[in-house]
Amino acid sequence: MLRFALLPIVLLAGVVHAHDVDALKLDTRKNALPVLPKVVAMMQDTVATRGVVEAIPVCKDQAPKLLKEQSDKTGWKMSRVSLKTRNPERGTPDVWEARQLADFNIRAAAGEKVESLEVGEIVMDAGKPVFRYIRAIPVGDVCLKCHGPSDRIEAGLKSELARNYPHDRAFGYEKGQIRGALTVWRPL
Ligand code: HEC
Repeated sequence: MLRFALLPIVLLAGVVHAHDVDALKLDTRKNALPVLPKVVAMMQDTVATRGVVEAIPVCKDQAPKLLKEQSDKTGWKMSRVSLKTRNPERGTPDVWEARQLADFNIRAAAGEKVESLEVGEIVMDAGKPVFRYIRAIPVGDVCLKCHGPSDRIEAGLKSELARNYPHDRAFGYEKGQIRGALTVWRPL
């Protein structure tokens, strides 16, 4: 009897939960995603007007700065991660992120569109529920100048990257692949 009495409550909790996740996802997209096209536009513009070496700070300083500004505004943690980092100190994924990135590669291989790959879920972190969101960052034309096949990188740029990033694994990408992801961690 008790089991039947509890059933509606359990079902209701499930519905509310799913609704919460959808709302959290929408709200996270709204606050985090606009940074991505901004960085792409800034990168295209800087490469075109000042050249590739001068464009390094867009990925190195401007992208983290824009994410930091959004983090400060929202109180959420935001960063970029990758399975093949240029800067491992900043971009190394944790276990949850690494799992999603591996899954993104599988989903992309199965034909899903890279630019809309995302996951948002409530997970327990140190005993507390938090909302985690991750969104794939695709490789566009301009990205190839610094993340494309290593034999196609301009010599001056290559030595500049080598000097700054001794553990660089962020070469060898093709257009349309997954360069990494934007990841968001929100307390609930
Ligand atoms: C002018 C060279 C250059 C171009 C062009 C460039 N990047 Fe980068 N990228 C870098 C550098 C340098 C870093 C390391 C940043 C750091 O020190 O945190 C980096 C790091 C990243 C990271 C963080 C993970 C990691 O590998 O450390 C992502 C994600 C990324 N780039 C995506 C892109 C995308 C997407 C594009 C195209 C829109 C792009 N980059 C174009 C130079 C470039």
